[in-house]
Amino acid sequence: MSKPVANTAVSVLVFFLICLRITSEADAVAAPMEETEREALYLAIQGFVGSHWDGRNLYPDPCGWTPIQGVSCDVFEGLWYVVVVNIGPVLDNSLECSQEAAFSPQLFELKRLRSLSFFRCFTSVNQTTTLSQDWRKLSGSLETLEFRSNDGLTGAIPVDLALLSNLQSLVLVENSLTGELPQELGNLVRLKRMSLAGNRLSGQLPASLGNNLAELLILDLSGNSLSGSLPCSIGGMSSLLKLDLSNNHLNGDIPSELGKLKNLTLLDLRNNSLSGVTPSLGDMASLRYMLLSDNPLGGNLMQLGLRNLRSLTTLDLSNTGFVGGIPEYITDSRRLRFIALDNNNLTGSVPKKFQELSGLTALYLNDNNLTGELEFSDEFYRRMGSRFAAWNNPNLCCRFESSGRVLPGVQRCEN
Ligand SMILES: *[C@@H]1O[C@H](CO)[C@@H](O)[C@H](O)[C@H]1NC(C)=O
Ligand SMILES: *[C@@H]1O[C@H](CO)[C@@H](O)[C@H](O)[C@H]1NC(C)=O
Ligand SMILES: *[C@@H]1O[C@H](CO)[C@@H](O)[C@H](O)[C@H]1NC(C)=O
Ligand SMILES: *[C@@H]1O[C@H](CO)[C@@H](O)[C@H](O)[C@H]1NC(C)=O
Ligand SMILES: *[C@@H]1O[C@H](CO)[C@@H](O)[C@H](O)[C@H]1NC(C)=O
Repeated sequence: MSKPVANTAVSVLVFFLICLRITSEADAVAAPMEETEREALYLAIQGFVGSHWDGRNLYPDPCGWTPIQGVSCDVFEGLWYVVVVNIGPVLDNSLECSQEAAFSPQLFELKRLRSLSFFRCFTSVNQTTTLSQDWRKLSGSLETLEFRSNDGLTGAIPVDLALLSNLQSLVLVENSLTGELPQELGNLVRLKRMSLAGNRLSGQLPASLGNNLAELLILDLSGNSLSGSLPCSIGGMSSLLKLDLSNNHLNGDIPSELGKLKNLTLLDLRNNSLSGVTPSLGDMASLRYMLLSDNPLGGNLMQLGLRNLRSLTTLDLSNTGFVGGIPEYITDSRRLRFIALDNNNLTGSVPKKFQELSGLTALYLNDNNLTGELEFSDEFYRRMGSRFAAWNNPNLCCRFESSGRVLPGVQRCEN
């Protein structure tokens, strides 16, 4: 008995759906766009994802009712233009590159392109791609350029990249780039972020960067093969918040001009061949992370200017060839949470005041020549657990408190 009713209900529903579809297609007026702009977009994407990608049919209105994942548009004087292109497997439905991914010349015809990024796109080590492209054409518009994790992106950073005078973010991270940093990169005076980490870049850090990039907030050149000394001009990057030059082959003295970086919060120079520290490091009043481990710095901890670094939370001076005593005033930096002084030639006693740092969670003093008695409370050792180390200090000793706790590699004080 209920069957006809159900049939009627289904028919009504189907009719309704058909109407809905007809009206929505009729209402959908394509976003006004120059035909050349739309064609350039299809051909540009095809270059990366392969010629089988049928953008014209799948996405007839790319800035309107058939948006393409990773592509954004904006209106200029009544017409739609492509302003963002992101290629690579970020989301499930992202555009993914083919093994033969390549730049098509049409990419550089997208007149209003502000942001271009590639993630795991040029991955084939057999068919590599370089950055020598027609950047001049995007010089008036491009603000962000990113290439991340593209093993097949090889060759040098071309001088022509420096023509992108509106660039604010240049991120070329974990590719296979080689060669030296062109000094022309100093022309990119609007840059806020330059991150070239994890390539095989070599040569020196050009002085032009420090002389011109006064708006730079982040400079990350870690994990390359840069050599030579740090230019004094580095003090000119007065806005800098983060400076990461770790894991390179930099040598020479740390220039006193670094002290001019008053807003710097992170200084990471780990694993280089730098020597010689300067008390002016103490002028970096905002510094929270001072990471200098694995460098033959030498000298005395007193020469580090630590007395003034009251915002410091992390101090890594492991394996830096420091000699002399541990100044008690280190503990005046009340926010310290991590202190590594291990693998040096430090002498003298261990300041008891370390235990007054309420946030301290790691203290490494092992492999030095510290002497005398460790005077920390049992509670302190309990709090630190295995993140306290003092072994390989032949003349250091401790007393065992009620718990009978044993500190690995530290002998018991006699009497
Ligand atoms: C590169 O080429 C070699 C020889 O032609 C081939 O065996 C290999 O599978 C290729 N590798 C990739 C990642 O395409
Ligand atoms: C440093 O930071 C302060 C506070 O955020 C800011 O007012 C100042 O302009 C910055 N200095 C430079 C040189 O960027
Ligand atoms: C130190 O840097 C070099 C590159 O200069 C790298 O090969 C090495 O793995 C780094 N060592 C550590 C401990 O990170
Ligand atoms: C400590 O000094 C001794 C003697 O001067 C030297 O042989 C040793 O290499 C130094 N150790 C470290 C870690 O610098
Ligand atoms: C440790 O210091 C003592 C003197 O306090 C000195 O005799 C000894 O050579 C030093 N050891 C090392 C490895 O520097």
